[in-house]
Amino acid sequence: ADEGMWVPMLIGKNYEQMKKQGFKLTPDDLYSINKASLKDAIVSFGGFCTGEIVSKNGLIFTNHHCGYDAIASNSTPQDNILDNGFWAKQYAEEKPIPGLFVNFLVRMQDVTAEINAATKGISEDKKVALIEATGVQIAADAVKGTKYTSYVRDFYKGNQYFLYIFEKFTDIRLVGNPPQSIGKFGGDTDNWQWPRHTGDFSVFRVYADANNKPADFAASNKPYTPKKFLPVSIKGLKNGDFSMVYGFPGRTDRFLTSNGVKLATDRTSPTIVKLREIRLKAWDEVMVNDVATRLKLSSLHASIANYWKYYIGQTEQLKRLKIYEQKVKEEAAFTTWAAAKPEYANLMQRYQEVYAAYAPFAVQKTYINEGLLASGWVKRAFPAKASLALIEAKKSDAEGLKELQDKMMADIDVYESTYNESADKKIFVQILSAFYNDIPKNQHPKFYTNLAQDNWQGTPEATFKKVADELWEKSNFIRPAKMRAFWSNPSLKGIEDDPGYAYAINLVPADYIKQNFGNAVSNFEDQKAALDKIYLKALLEKNAGKAMYPDANSTMRISYGNVQNYKPKDGITYDIVTTIEGVMDKYVPGDAEFDLPQNLIDAYNAKNYGQYGENGDLVVNFISNNDITGGNSGSPVINAKGELIGLAFDGNWEAMSGDIAFDKVYKRTISVDTRYVLWCIDILGGAKNIIAELDIRKDAVPVK
Ligand code: ARG
Repeated sequence: ADEGMWVPMLIGKNYEQMKKQGFKLTPDDLYSINKASLKDAIVSFGGFCTGEIVSKNGLIFTNHHCGYDAIASNSTPQDNILDNGFWAKQYAEEKPIPGLFVNFLVRMQDVTAEINAATKGISEDKKVALIEATGVQIAADAVKGTKYTSYVRDFYKGNQYFLYIFEKFTDIRLVGNPPQSIGKFGGDTDNWQWPRHTGDFSVFRVYADANNKPADFAASNKPYTPKKFLPVSIKGLKNGDFSMVYGFPGRTDRFLTSNGVKLATDRTSPTIVKLREIRLKAWDEVMVNDVATRLKLSSLHASIANYWKYYIGQTEQLKRLKIYEQKVKEEAAFTTWAAAKPEYANLMQRYQEVYAAYAPFAVQKTYINEGLLASGWVKRAFPAKASLALIEAKKSDAEGLKELQDKMMADIDVYESTYNESADKKIFVQILSAFYNDIPKNQHPKFYTNLAQDNWQGTPEATFKKVADELWEKSNFIRPAKMRAFWSNPSLKGIEDDPGYAYAINLVPADYIKQNFGNAVSNFEDQKAALDKIYLKALLEKNAGKAMYPDANSTMRISYGNVQNYKPKDGITYDIVTTIEGVMDKYVPGDAEFDLPQNLIDAYNAKNYGQYGENGDLVVNFISNNDITGGNSGSPVINAKGELIGLAFDGNWEAMSGDIAFDKVYKRTISVDTRYVLWCIDILGGAKNIIAELDIRKDAVPVK
């Protein structure tokens, strides 16, 4: 199959099918606790991406967009590695990235029986919390006396549980990155689209202490010696070749019911798109002003833009592929099957009711995270509220205030690193104004109604402009300079009288939800979770004997399939690969998205492709039918023999509905070919030191 994100420990169940599709290794080569296996070469990169070990010295390949924040935060107008690229020629030049970590999976284990035993006979309303607590306890017990970390995750919406044990490394250093004109070539215009021409890779290294164990950064740490690393193939691809993606997919919602699809396409997704557009426009306006501002906002802009386009594409494709109608049909068939089973009868009717009760609040709920909390300073005021409550209870001002001071001072730098007064103010005004128009008046929170009435200037924009001007002028919670001055010598009264503080504390999410929606949101979440658990139990029963993969949940998965072309529409077939000819076709000198470095153009003109070319051309990206999602970014794409052939970095437009429904005809994974990666490192970057570390497979080697 191509559809499915399978659990490594259970991959034996898929083995016959994998062999049929061309796989040459054994299940033990993929996952084993008795010997080094491929899982030992694959890491969760920072908890948000995937990386693979490609040398005996702990070298990691991942995507450029996964390393983006590390690269951008190490860039200044004087030493601009984001725009110019960077290659460490020796260990001493590698750049430590504080806060970054990688997790190696030591082992996993099914703990469903333990969880069920511990929660047997407990009433439903107490069960959720007890399951949670039991999982935490199991995870803690499993690593007691070791330096490992662990967690328990639920599968099939609470019908199965697995324990995961990791070795976590925290000294991770940046080894190299191409200029972003290669690493992010095509920008937001090409994002989520094939044909693609992006060199979306960057290079890091894991460091360990003298005993090869995890350690916080120290100059004396040594490159980590891994149990396993991936050889790199530069042999080339053809349509139909076996391909496998091994990594940490973040989240899918494949069992979402038709009600959920409708709510997303009609209400929540358009709201997310609209609110993200407000932010992106405001940043775009200031990012063109100077390099320092652009570098400051690049990483934030990229992450908001990525899922802005995602929600546009997802909505479009859910409609085009008629996913709602498809789900309605499946649910009708389910209802027929379930009619004689009291446990599952009326399930779809109950979903209907639960969604109907929640739908009127869904847009405002979306506004909280995507709008009202998009002003970074607002969230920074929350600890002050919590501390004030504590101070009140303990009646000890000085002590509590000191604690709060430390907390606030500790992350002022982080806050300031993306502060931009004109953009931030504009975003604040526009979001509060959009709220005025989008949310029915009878749903406006009281503080918001008062704010609008007390400052009314004839239009929401003029009104909230006045509000913003006053807040920015008078509050000590917004301008970094004022913030520093205030928090170097804070007073209780100063906090309590602060207009920014007074505004922000209305937006503490849990309180906001309670005050404005009563129990509507929590009821929806609880009831939906309970229905989901029953629905999945029923589906497992209905599909007994057939392989059924669980939704992605940031745990390690294997997806296998083939390199495969596709027809986006009638009369057009997309090739499996793109080449440097296409890169040059898209080249627009000086453009923010389609510029290119001169040395790439020179090497192209000289056809200087070294050992990485094929028939006088250079392959850049390729597609395969593997099942991936966000979090898989940076994952190794592995051939039948276990060699690295590419790094997965994106999905394609025609199947953007993929997180909700996998489309077998259209869904493709977009990867950067290892030959382009190595060419950029070697021929353009001149980093022979990195090439020398790799185990490059050029000609067919016999399989053991
Ligand atoms: N769409 C890609 C993903 O989510 C990220 C691509 C980053 N590039 C960009 N132009 N924002 O995995």
